[in-house]
Amino acid sequence: MMKATEAVAARLGTLKPRVAIVLGSGLGFLADEVAQAIRIPYRTIPGFPEPGVAGHKGELVAGTLEGVPVLVQAGRFHLYEGHPAAVAGLPTRVFAELGVEILIVTNAAGGVRRTFPGGTLMLIADHLNLMWRNPLIGQPEPGEQRFPIMHEPYDGELRALASTVAREAGIRMEEGVYAALLGPSYETPSEVRMLERLGADAVGMSTAPEVLVARSRGMRCLGFSIITNPGAGITGEALSHAEVLAVSEQVARKLAVVVKGVLQRIK
Ligand code: HPA
Repeated sequence: MMKATEAVAARLGTLKPRVAIVLGSGLGFLADEVAQAIRIPYRTIPGFPEPGVAGHKGELVAGTLEGVPVLVQAGRFHLYEGHPAAVAGLPTRVFAELGVEILIVTNAAGGVRRTFPGGTLMLIADHLNLMWRNPLIGQPEPGEQRFPIMHEPYDGELRALASTVAREAGIRMEEGVYAALLGPSYETPSEVRMLERLGADAVGMSTAPEVLVARSRGMRCLGFSIITNPGAGITGEALSHAEVLAVSEQVARKLAVVVKGVLQRIK
């Protein structure tokens, strides 16, 4: 077992988390809704760097949400911070070693599909890994496949469940393909047009590494993008990280309803 896993396991006691939730920009408040919360700062977990982006925290929060034992990852490691893909995927490897069955990933993204303006909630149907990095490069860790199949990266049953929850709650949710780019610069207008032709509906700088690790371990994934802004060139307006954070906090309230509804039904 990895040292990081041992450190987290030591803090969990008898809690056996079934679901891990990775919080993107704006979703931090969900960590505060965890009941009987055990807060595990990254600085106490071997191999976990300190997070460095405004709006991102650095702790795992274990406990229950809607009665389901969960591990919430508040703060993720981005490749654009200079972290290797394996570091971006390290928390997911820890979750797998702890027996987590389902990984829920969330992120903020730019809209590529022209009908997905800022404020759109998007269920991730599939992704394009355009980071050209993969956390699985190197010797496979125990329990991992050498050549994981990626024919259903985002679990069909969980997606159907999320759609049902959203519909019943009166929350409009689109579905689309997430393109993961290295960043940290936002795209040029020509890059957004390229992504559109490649079949992307949204673009961001995370999520693919975590999902690649999760699938190699047989975890089922469910992913959501909060589209905070139209991609460059679509409306002609420039965007800022401050705008990204403000919009994501609004849509995050709806996303939280969907995530909690899914948890209630997988209990
Ligand atoms: N591009 C990439 N990542 C993003 C964007 C964007 O426009 N908005 C929020 N995250």
